[in-house]
Amino acid sequence: MLLVIMSLAVFACKGLVQALPFPAPNFNNCNNYQGCCPAPYKGTISEKLYVFDRKLPMRTRPAAHLLDDAYIAKYQRAYRLLRALPDSDPRSWKNQAKLHCAYCNAAFNFDVLTSSGRNSTMRFEVHFGWMFLPWHRFFLYFHERILAKLLGDDETFALPFWNWDNQSPDPPLANAIPLAFANPIYDNKVQSSLYDERRNRCTKWPNLIDLQNALECANQTLELQTSLRQWNNRLMYTQLVTAAPISRLFFGESYKLGSAPGRGAGTLEVSPHGDVHLWTGNPNATIPFSDMGILQYAALDPIFYAHHGNIDRLWEVWKSLPGGNRKDLSQADYLNTQFLFYDENAALVKVQISQALNINNFRSGTHYSHEF
Ligand code: C2O
Repeated sequence: MLLVIMSLAVFACKGLVQALPFPAPNFNNCNNYQGCCPAPYKGTISEKLYVFDRKLPMRTRPAAHLLDDAYIAKYQRAYRLLRALPDSDPRSWKNQAKLHCAYCNAAFNFDVLTSSGRNSTMRFEVHFGWMFLPWHRFFLYFHERILAKLLGDDETFALPFWNWDNQSPDPPLANAIPLAFANPIYDNKVQSSLYDERRNRCTKWPNLIDLQNALECANQTLELQTSLRQWNNRLMYTQLVTAAPISRLFFGESYKLGSAPGRGAGTLEVSPHGDVHLWTGNPNATIPFSDMGILQYAALDPIFYAHHGNIDRLWEVWKSLPGGNRKDLSQADYLNTQFLFYDENAALVKVQISQALNINNFRSGTHYSHEF
């Protein structure tokens, strides 16, 4: 009898996966669901973790609504160069959007144990849980390094951030679409490389952002704009302060090898993050809410990267707030989770979450303040 029980136990354990950190997914074993496989890789991937360039000077990410003409010209040039890369280059415009899509439930399979005790295969997902902030910090960083390389400006280029949490009514407005993104034509002559035609008409300048995406596309009277500022401020206060006094609520639920994805997003991820995506995407597009409002297409809009610049900044803002227990997560399964990215030289590199927590590693960041 004992033997039967023991062999049953062995049987039940066979092939099951324990809770462990996710290893880096295999780019050459991609199931191309939604056509999102990142560029395949030839050769072997180094077992070693990515090494940050400590000699890079610190760069400050500027607020997008405050850019001067010279910065906008450089920013335009960066995206023109990126869009011109052929898709045989893993750093290309489309390949970067695909990489984001691949990591959002579209490309990599891992075995998991379902609640009924059966083994099944699930697609990997960096959203809706604790991987959200670190994964996007890396994604943004490599994107920024690629642009800097294309510009031949390794030392000073930093991505602007869209400061939509700033509700100041004084011009230039931070909480409308930044002017650098608003116009389809740049400098009265060429197509803007920062423009995406698949945006909601609500984003038309100078409509204000609706951080809860609650109003659909209401006609923004001055009165309504005053209320919107108030609602936006309230939402920011709730999501950073009252609703997130502890790490788990801010970062979201754990997600380890062996668990299903999407167990619960943190406060910042749901709202404002998700709502800014939905507000920006076009509800009447052929694929409703593309580009920004659909994970699969979101990174095709250059404003995606400025949006995430602000998300990345708000992570630091949250850590700097007094009260509560506002610290990075410290579980080993979190810290040892690994991802692969293409760097500015088109080399595939391996990173792990423990490297993402110190913003100084990236030699690029923002001013970490938010006035409530
Ligand atoms: Cu990967 Cu803002 O989403």
